[in-house]
Amino acid sequence: MKIKNICCLGAGYVGGPTMSVIALKCPEIKVTVVDLNEARIAAWNEENLDKLPVYEPGLAEVVREARGRNLFFSTEVESAIDAADMIFIAVNTPTKTYGEGKGMAADLKFVELCARQIARIAKNDKIIVEKSTLPVRTAETLQTILDRTGNGVKFEVLSNPEFLAEGTAINDLFNADRVLIGGKQTESGQKAIQSLVDIYAHWLSPKQILTTNVWSSELSKLTANAFLAQRISSINALSALCEVTEADVDEVANAIGTDSRIGPKFLKASVGFGGSCFQKDILNLVYLCRYFNLPEVANYWEQVIILNDYQKYRFAKNIISSLFNTVSGKKITFLGWAFKKDTNDTRESAAIYVAEHLIEDGAEIHVYDPKVSEAKIIADMCYLWELNGLTEQKIASKIKQIFVYQSPMEALDQAHAIAVLTEWDEFKTYDWNAIYINMYKPAFVFDGRNILDVEKLNAIGFEVKGIGKG
Ligand code: NAD
Ligand code: UDX
Repeated sequence: MKIKNICCLGAGYVGGPTMSVIALKCPEIKVTVVDLNEARIAAWNEENLDKLPVYEPGLAEVVREARGRNLFFSTEVESAIDAADMIFIAVNTPTKTYGEGKGMAADLKFVELCARQIARIAKNDKIIVEKSTLPVRTAETLQTILDRTGNGVKFEVLSNPEFLAEGTAINDLFNADRVLIGGKQTESGQKAIQSLVDIYAHWLSPKQILTTNVWSSELSKLTANAFLAQRISSINALSALCEVTEADVDEVANAIGTDSRIGPKFLKASVGFGGSCFQKDILNLVYLCRYFNLPEVANYWEQVIILNDYQKYRFAKNIISSLFNTVSGKKITFLGWAFKKDTNDTRESAAIYVAEHLIEDGAEIHVYDPKVSEAKIIADMCYLWELNGLTEQKIASKIKQIFVYQSPMEALDQAHAIAVLTEWDEFKTYDWNAIYINMYKPAFVFDGRNILDVEKLNAIGFEVKGIGKG
């Protein structure tokens, strides 16, 4: 079946960039991205491309070319579903915060709502594509919901997990290591797979397009994220050992990374991984393993998360102990709040948890991030405190310990310590001499990303503490 009209449910970090690239590369296909969130859709339709709701290098250029031509952003969900021959589901699947599986399982209520809505509206056969990250066997649930509509429409459900990383999304989509498409082994299943292969074949070679059965595809996504996160937790675990043995974690990473069986990527020690995917997807994997009565497997993967929590806590504790065992009333400047550079996304950012620990000890947290707004930073902290059951009164008083700046120099003025939480390139270019002059002494720098030139900073007079540096 030749696809002429695509609808994508969910205009977030995945739906927005992936559909923009599909529209750019397939000018003969009409692509409509819909969302229930009116403000988000309005931002996708902003004339000023600096105001798109997702910041990604290269995204504005793609949107400029395709939007209004064959790419549309809309809140008219029903008409977009009705018109489409292929529907991508790219809605959020956060960790459940209530009831059965709370804190572990993926919350599939948004996905289920999509399926029910499609089933209600569809008047002709459609291919439904799981783009969201989902527990293995979700396609079965979707198929059941879709097939119970009784109006005779046929649905083929495909799994097509997304592997883009934020900050490099456009490049990842243009030059994907692979795209993965899982479908049924039936004749109609294979035809549906081919329809989606044909779309990606507009810009990817056949060897970049893998096809599998649905369950392998669903499980591969959770597995990929678990393996990537495991590498970070492994190197972060060893960073703690480096600090007490005078080994240097970057040297160790380089030494093992040159072994072609290990490879150099994802071995950068850090304050801890963040982002909306790794923690959520591993928790989901752990939940699934326990559900299928595989406690040893569950415990193995859970350790990746436990170690990551330890790393964030260890970073905060190190700040407190270095500042003579208390940060009460002290100004700690955070350089960076996003979970990694080149994104405005802050979900599960290590900065949030480090801030929480330091605020608990009485610190004032002064934040500068080139892409994250004050409202977002305050919302992140309030969300965590609410989740931890703090009263409104307590939250209101803790918010007073957070200050957010538009200018890095203001944020850094008269600080007791600086903590680098995100590896933004601009932090390396600051006038560190001027920063030193305006700080309390000893002037501490805690480099949670190992991006600063330690020798240079030491020569200026800073006390620098990196991750995994003896
Ligand atoms: P997001 O929160 O940025 O976007 C999801 C959007 O879906 C929201 O704007 C929400 O309003 C919308 N939505 C929810 N229910 C809807 C409905 N019924 N109809 C229309 N819109 C609806 O989430 P995201 O980061 O784009 O992630 C989406 C999925 O992709 C998740 O399953 C995630 O695990 C997966 N994923 C994310 C990334 C990433 O880097 N962010 C990478 C790979 C996979
Ligand atoms: C991840 C996966 O990489 C991507 O394939 C998937 O589709 C979504 O989840 P993302 O979370 O956007 O992508 O970014 P990623 O580059 O993986 O970084 C995740 C976190 O790990 C960030 O906080 C990053 O700073 C940290 N990280 C990454 C390290 O601490 N060290 C590393 O070596 C690599």
